[in-house]
This record gives sequence, structure tokens and C-alpha cells, in this order.
Amino acid sequence: MSKASFKRLPGFRDFPPEDLRFRNHIFDAWRRVALRYGFQEYDGPPLEALDLYVEKSGPEIVGQLYNFRDKGDREITLRPEMTPSLARILSERSRSMPKPIRWFSMPQLFRYERQQRGRLREHFQWNVDVVGEDDVAADAEVVAVAIDGLRELGLTHEDFRARVSSRRLLAGLLGALGVTEEHLAAAFAIVDKLQREGDKTAQRLRDEAGLDSEQAAQVLELLVGATLDELAERFNGHEGVAAEVARLQTYVGYLQAMGLGDYVEFDLSVVRGLAYYTGIVFELFDTGGELRAICGGGRYDRLLELVGGEPLPAVGFGMGDVVLGELLKDHGLGPGPDAGVDYFIVCVDAEQRELALAIAHAQREQRRSVAYALREQGVAKQFKTAGALGAREVIVLGPDEVARGNAVVRVMASGEEREVSLEELR
Ligand code: HAM
Repeated sequence: MSKASFKRLPGFRDFPPEDLRFRNHIFDAWRRVALRYGFQEYDGPPLEALDLYVEKSGPEIVGQLYNFRDKGDREITLRPEMTPSLARILSERSRSMPKPIRWFSMPQLFRYERQQRGRLREHFQWNVDVVGEDDVAADAEVVAVAIDGLRELGLTHEDFRARVSSRRLLAGLLGALGVTEEHLAAAFAIVDKLQREGDKTAQRLRDEAGLDSEQAAQVLELLVGATLDELAERFNGHEGVAAEVARLQTYVGYLQAMGLGDYVEFDLSVVRGLAYYTGIVFELFDTGGELRAICGGGRYDRLLELVGGEPLPAVGFGMGDVVLGELLKDHGLGPGPDAGVDYFIVCVDAEQRELALAIAHAQREQRRSVAYALREQGVAKQFKTAGALGAREVIVLGPDEVARGNAVVRVMASGEEREVSLEELR
């Protein structure tokens, strides 16, 4: 009878030690940066009620859910994103908390997507959110965290940019150029696809957003070229547009004051796929233009109330480990060499085994890492294992030295050897 063969599910990853080390390298940088900005870490359950996402996140994500009915007949799903969980958690406790709330998390998320470069069916996502502050300084703060997260991993201004826009501004501009309220959602969806299907945009604006050819051409012209200063001049009589342009100018000013101004580009075509964003939105992209968004986020001032909590403004982002991992590998960036164990203990023959165990345990008590062969082996083979484990030093227990109360300690990098008394090691 043939043995069953079990394959990993498509779009999921195993993390053997070298891959887990790479992942932890990213997690450590994310955590360091979030703590440096005064954020506190939180987590939530990987399973949530299906209703938490329906309508709040929008149709794109709802079509990708890993949902099912549990044994208690509840409609549930693996979490596809963290923001609704954050809103739910805060709905139960935010009233008693000082504002703004600065929280971060690094959950594993699940989306049934078509697998491609940078897109899997699970990923880890750094979430950083400020809740309870509507000042644009909060928007600037979170994008600065995202930029510094990438800088912490060794990426520079050469490698990535934050593309920033505002849904409120886009709505105002589209309205001023003839898009009616009922066509706004359709127009947003078309603009969101501009990068991928640019040549179809004008046609779609005519067919699906109710514009004529001239209006569609005007929208396109703004989307690809307009600067904030030009918009400020051209729409200065249009209250909603002017106020949001001024807000974005303040935002850029704050990032310039932090020394991060060069990382930020205004790009009206950034809309974001999720339904709940209400104001400034942004995405981080590689300058090579080869990868999908490394990170996306923005302001969502109505989600907390929608989930049944205190009506609080909020802004944040999610940065996945998959696209970022590709970018780091393309640039040869990753963790340094594995530190290896401090000591490997070699027994020349079986008589030294108990002594080896005593030394190993004494050293482990001193917080040093120690390994040794788990069965009787030749000295050459033991040295080979010591090499494979990256041992810094090898303690050799030979009968003659042990009889004198000593051991030989060899520094693996230099080959230099010295005799050390057993009393010192135990
Ligand atoms: P999102 O744009 O859906 O936003 O995801 C954010 C990032 O997660 C993406 O830019 C990408 O790097 C990564 N990502 C998303 N889906 C996948 C996938 N299938 N495979 C690999 N990586 C993926 C959100 O999820 C928002 N909840 C972020 C947020 C937090 N907004 C405010 N606060």
C-alpha cells in the first residue's frame, strides 16, 4: 500500500529555522520602531464572527474570507485583517482609556487570494494605529512609523516611497468635475485600478461613473499630474477641496520637519481597496515598481462607531511580511550570521560524559548556550557537529587533561587553544 503524501496547502508557508530567523528579523525591527514611537503591543483571536467584516471591510475582502460554520452553529472566519478586531476590542474598553490610544500588533492573517509574487493565503501584518485623535499630526505620525520600519531594516530613500492621497479630497474633486453622489463609489473603484489598467480608465469613467469624454479627460489629467499647490490654486473657491488640500500641506510639512519629507509623494490615484477609509490614505511602494504595495493605511473615522463602540477617529496602517521579504531579499538585506552556541563540549571517551553534563548545566545556569553529542562519537565527528552549530568555543575533555583537573578550550575562529581548570567551568 502506498503511503499518503501530505503537501502543504497552496499559499501557506513553513518556517524552517533559517526562514523563521528572517521573519523574526523583520518582527524585531517592527517591534523596536513601534516601541520607539510609544506604541503598546496587543493581540486578539485568529477567529472572529463573520459579521465583523461584512460591509465594514467591503466586498473585496469579504470575497476572500476563510469562513465556515462552527460546531455551535456560528458563522465565523479566520481574520483577514486586524482593523475590525481592533475596533471590536476597543468598543469594550476605550471609554475608560486615556486618548489617544497608540496600539500595535503583528497578527497572522488569512485571505483566500490567487497566489502570486507578494500575495499568499496567509501573511503576518504589522498594524500600527492611533485611535482618538483627529489632528493631522496623528496621520503624519503613523506614516512616519511605517517609513522608519523600513529604514530600520536597511532600506533607504533609494528603495521606497510613500504615496499619499485623501479620499475626502478625491471625493471633492470628483464632485467638482461632475461625478454625482450615486456614482462616487464606482468612480473610487475605477481610480483604485488606475495603476493596473490605466488605458481603460477613461472608458470606464464614461461607462460606469456617468461622465462625458471631456469630464473623464479632466479627471485623468488631475489623477496623473496634479500637485497640491496646483490644486490649491485651481480649487481655492471650493471649500471642501481647499480645506483638505490645506490639511495635506500641513501633513507634508510635519513629515518635512521630521526629516522624512523626501519619502512622501502626493498621488491622487491612491484610493485603497477597503471600504472604511474616510480621509488621508497612503501606500508604500518600492521605487523599482516591481512589487505590489508593501504597506497600506489611512484614516478611518467611522469604523469604531460602526462596530458598536465609542465614536472615535482613528488612523493606522498594515505592513505585510511577504512583499517586504521579497524587497529585502532583492537588496541582499537580512539578519546577520547566526550567533551559534557559546560552547560545544567534546568528550574524548565515554568516561567524561558525566563531567560534560555537569559543565554544560553549570554554564547554562550562567545563561550560556551549550550543546554536546547525545551519543558516544569520535572526536572528529563531534568537532564537525560543533562547526555545524556555529560553536564559538569547544571544550575538549580528554583523559590526560581531566586527570590534571583541566580541560582544553579551543576558539573555533582562530584555532587558538588554552588549558582551563575544571573548577572554572563547573
Ligand atoms: P491592506 O492593504 O489590505 O490593509 O493590507 C496591508 C498590507 O498587507 C498590504 O500592503 C500587503 O503588504 C499586505 N497583504 C495584504 N494581503 C496580503 C496577502 N494576501 N499576501 C501577502 N501580503 C498581503 C489592511 O489590511 C488594513 N487593515 C490596514 C490598516 C490598519 N488600515 C488601518 N489600520
